[in-house]
This record gives sequence, structure tokens and C-alpha cells, in this order.
Amino acid sequence: MRLDLYASILALPACLRLACAEQYELDDAIYDSGLHGPGTDQEVLGVPCPDYTRYATARHRPYSDGPLELPFQRPHKSCRKFTSPEVEQVIRDLYPRMKDRDLAHIFQNAFPNTLDTTVLWHVDGETTHAGPSKYFRYRDNAEWKGAQSFIVTGDINAEWLRDSTNQLAQYQLLAKTALDISNLIKGAIATQAEFVIENPYCNAFQPPNPSGLDPSNNGQQDIVHPQYEPSNVFECKYELDSLANFLSLGNQYHAATGSTKFLTNRWFLALRTIIAVLQAQSQPTFDADHKFRVNEYLFSRQTTAGTETLNLGGLGNPLGPGTGLIRSAFRPSDDAAIFPFLIPSNAMMSVELNRTASLLRAFTTTTADKADIENLHIYIKILESHSTSIRNGILNHAVVNHPTFGQVLAYETDGYNSHLLMDDANVPSLLSLPLLGFLDKSEALYQNTRAMILSPHGNPYFLSGPAFTGIGGPHIGLRNAWPMSVLIQAMTSDDDNEILSCLERVKNVSVFGLINESVDVRVGVDRRSAQGMTRPWFAWANSVLAQCVLWLAQERPHLVFEGGAVAEKYVVGKGFVGA
Ligand SMILES: *[C@@H]1O[C@H](CO)[C@@H](O)[C@H](O)[C@H]1NC(C)=O
Ligand SMILES: *[C@@H]1O[C@H](CO)[C@@H](O)[C@H](O)[C@H]1NC(C)=O
Ligand SMILES: *[C@@H]1O[C@H](CO)[C@@H](O)[C@H](O)[C@H]1NC(C)=O
Repeated sequence: MRLDLYASILALPACLRLACAEQYELDDAIYDSGLHGPGTDQEVLGVPCPDYTRYATARHRPYSDGPLELPFQRPHKSCRKFTSPEVEQVIRDLYPRMKDRDLAHIFQNAFPNTLDTTVLWHVDGETTHAGPSKYFRYRDNAEWKGAQSFIVTGDINAEWLRDSTNQLAQYQLLAKTALDISNLIKGAIATQAEFVIENPYCNAFQPPNPSGLDPSNNGQQDIVHPQYEPSNVFECKYELDSLANFLSLGNQYHAATGSTKFLTNRWFLALRTIIAVLQAQSQPTFDADHKFRVNEYLFSRQTTAGTETLNLGGLGNPLGPGTGLIRSAFRPSDDAAIFPFLIPSNAMMSVELNRTASLLRAFTTTTADKADIENLHIYIKILESHSTSIRNGILNHAVVNHPTFGQVLAYETDGYNSHLLMDDANVPSLLSLPLLGFLDKSEALYQNTRAMILSPHGNPYFLSGPAFTGIGGPHIGLRNAWPMSVLIQAMTSDDDNEILSCLERVKNVSVFGLINESVDVRVGVDRRSAQGMTRPWFAWANSVLAQCVLWLAQERPHLVFEGGAVAEKYVVGKGFVGA
């Protein structure tokens, strides 16, 4: 008996070590990608894959051959959630050609991170289909037909509409030629559509019924109107940009592929639902006789953090009439807005509504049905009219004459001439407006606004310290700046020196070879203890790094590749295309 027991302990796979982070550094070989020659791997060991949150808090070999010796952080091949030969090809194309070996290593980790770690459920709708659920969930009327994809945010077991759109953005250009990527994104559009139809005011969602994945609990007891079913919804903060991101996911896919095949009846129902939200949330707080009228969306939480709940019984601060702007109760950081006409989210919505109108115009050419075409034209009119009135609302109500910086855009306003001057790291932000397509980066209004929000005198959340500098926000607090904001700063710059210094700053604090949510500007990041930053597994930030490198490869190849001024450009989906 005892001997048997002893023997079976000996036979236990070495994976016991998987559970203990301290050992990782000693046992790096186990986690090699397999691209680097044979080694003991998880397939051989036949053990479960390590939880990626823990995996990402240790450094795995091989290290980069740059001065920072950054680790390799991709899970073992057999532990990846989704693999795509086309995505591997992009890495094979770029990795050897990048002159900064540390940046190349981060790119190699970050570019596939969404696929490697966050595709928790996917059916392509052709060979695999959504099955029956092990749960019975109240009010789940979704059809779950066709391709579906559930893209988890990272270390929190839920899908955010905003995060998932951004998590997938760096693969969009592959969708035209790669069927697997195309189905993955089409699936993500269809899954988001179900979320929007059922709960258009919510920001984060549980795994869909047929995925068979367990829902999790966010530990709060929020009082929200309209009510929702917690086994379907992870959190229900109404953020205008969540809905803009749903539209953006489809618009990006259309721009990349020219295809309108994702425009299903469910998608149109989601669009109708969004239009209803826009109508409801463009209502002012008082009617023409200054009588209070209740808003459809209310949110209260018991908390000591002012940014986690809405005052005035869940309503938030009052909004004036006639602006054309749309209320957003919360920001893309999931913090409460102070003045709920949140400008970056309105700007993004204006752009995406206009793009959706063009998408529907393209769709009219695919049908000969007169009634359909008429209906499409009605949609197009509504979308364009909202898009225009939001844009005018921003230009008429959010431009402020600043004594130092001149004409700038406010972060928030209320329709009573109150303005909040600041920016937050999370996109949509003021800093990202040119990337969102709202302003050109050469416009004075943008340049003045940019100078303001990248100054500690113009933006209280521009934080700097001996170890790091960037824009943060109230979500993590006054000591933490977010690498994401520094990457957006790079992508909105025309100045090679500014771009390179942004990349240096981000690299310097990415000691685990991935991008953290935020970094303590005083102490930076400790390689041993992993202290000084937040969120080990934040897929969105990794995607922004990948997008930044791909942008450089296409627009400023001399900054990333050898060859100086004649360095070849690289375009995703096309390869190197000459200088
Ligand atoms: C920051 O992210 C890295 C992975 O990139 C992780 O190892 C580290 O633990 C994170 N920091 C915190 C405090 O979560
Ligand atoms: C919508 O897009 C068209 C070009 O496609 C542009 O001319 C127009 O100004 C845009 N409208 C708004 C409100 O952004
Ligand atoms: C990198 O970080 C260290 C401390 O963490 C700091 O001393 C150094 O100045 C930083 N370098 C850059 C380029 O930011």
C-alpha cells in the first residue's frame, strides 16, 4: 500500500511545479514555445495548462538578446486557445527584421496574446456549432446561430465590448485572406450583437450559454435600471463607447474585407437597440418646463469610491437640453463620469455611426428587394443625422478657450457650460481622437488639446516620476500612469524622437515582456517581485503595443527595421512591400 503510494507520487508529472511561481525561472525550458527545439513540454507531461495570470507573473526563456533581456511569455503551443498560421507568419516576418531586439520580443508576445490566451469559446458556424447549454438562464433569448466567439478580457473572467474590439483590431487586416481569422472576428461580432440586444446598457458580459463556461461573480450588489440577469451580465455600467465599439468591430471588419456577410437579422436588431439607447440617452434631465424626468438608466453601488457609483439616486449629474450630445454614465475606464456628456466617447460614436451608414450603403447594392432598400435608407438617414448632431454638439459645446493652451476640447461637459479639462488613459480618450478618426492630428484644436493633456499643468492625470511618465486616471489612482497612453502618444506623433522616447518608456517598464495596465511612476516595476504595476494579464494593452509596432512597420519603417531611409514597409496581410 505504502509503496504503491510512493510510486504514484514519483509518477506524478513535473507539473506540480506549474503551480508554484517561484520555480518558473529555474524551469523555463518547460515553457519554451517548441519553436526553439525539443524540450519537455506540456504535451509530453500531459498536464493541465497553467493559469495565464500566474504564468505571466514569471519570466520564461528564451530571453531577448537586447539589453533588457525580456522573457518569452507565450503559453506552450498546446495551451494556446486559438492558433492561426497567418498570425504566426506575421511574427516570423517581423521578428528577425526588427532592430530593437527587446521591442521585437515584446511584439512576439503581445501580437498573438489575444489568440493565445483570450479566445475562451469559438465556433465557426460551419464545422462547429453552438450546442445546447448546461445551464438554464432566464431571459436568454439569443439564437447563437453561425460563428460565435467569446473573447475574455484577461485576468477577469468576462468579456468587455470595448476590450474585445480592441483585442482583435490587430488581426483585422488578415481577415480578407485568412478564413480562420475571418470566422473568429465574424463570431465576435455575432456574440457582441447578442450581448447588445439583451443588455444594451451593460459593459461586461458572462460567457454565453452554449459555451458551457461558468459565469463568475463580480462581488457587487449593484442596483441598476433596467434590471439584468447576473448570469448573463458581469457588470452593467452604461458606457457609450461600449456601443460604439460594437459598431467599430463590424466597421473595421468591413473596411478590411469589403464583406457585409455579418449583417444578419440579429445584427440589425442590435443596431435598432443602439438607436433606441441613443434616443433615450440624448434626453436632458429636465423637460421644457424645467420638470425633472427620470432617465431610463440608473446605477447605484455600495462603495467608498466616488467613481464606482452615480449620485442623485443613480442618475449622475444633470444634463442640459439641446446639445445633440449623448449621455455616458461611465467612462471607458469604468469610472463614473463627472459631467456625463463624455466627449471622447461621443466623438467615437459620431465616427462609427457615420461609418455604419457607409456600410449600409454598400449593403444596399447586395439586395434587389425594394422594401429592404427603403428600410436601409431609413437607417442610413437616422445614423447620419445622429452622427452629425453629435459632431456639431462637440464643436459647439465642448470647445474651451484655455488661457495657456488656446482652443482645446474638454473631456466632459454638461450642457450648462461646465467643462472638465483632463484626459484619461483609456481609449476613447482625447489623446486618441485622430486614431478614432474624429480629428486630423494636424488640426490646431487637436494640437492644443494634446499639448494640454500631455502637461502636468493642463491635465491632473498626467503623471510623472523617476521611473515612468504618462497619462493615468482615477481608476488606479494618482501614482500610476498607463503604458497604453504612452503608446497612443506615439501613434499620434509625427516626431521620430517623441515616438522613440515613448517606446523606450514603455519597454523599460515591461520587464515581463507584456504590457501592464498601469505602472507606479515613482518606483517602476520590480523584476523579482512584480511589484509596482497592476494587472499581469491585460490583453487590450498587449494589442495596443502590437498595433503600435504594426503602425510603425507600415508608416515609419526606418524606426523599426534595419536599412535606414530605404527600409522596406511592412503591411499586414501583404508582407514587405518596398520602401
Ligand atoms: C504586470 O504584468 C506582468 C506581466 O507582463 C506581470 O508579471 C506582473 O505581475 C504585473 N504586475 C502586477 C502588479 O500585476
Ligand atoms: C461622414 O463621412 C463622410 C465621408 O465618408 C464625410 O464627408 C462626412 O463629413 C462625415 N460626417 C460626419 C458627421 O462625420
Ligand atoms: C528606466 O527605469 C529606471 C528605473 O526603473 C529609471 O532609472 C530609468 O531612468 C528608466 N529609463 C527610461 C529611458 O525611462
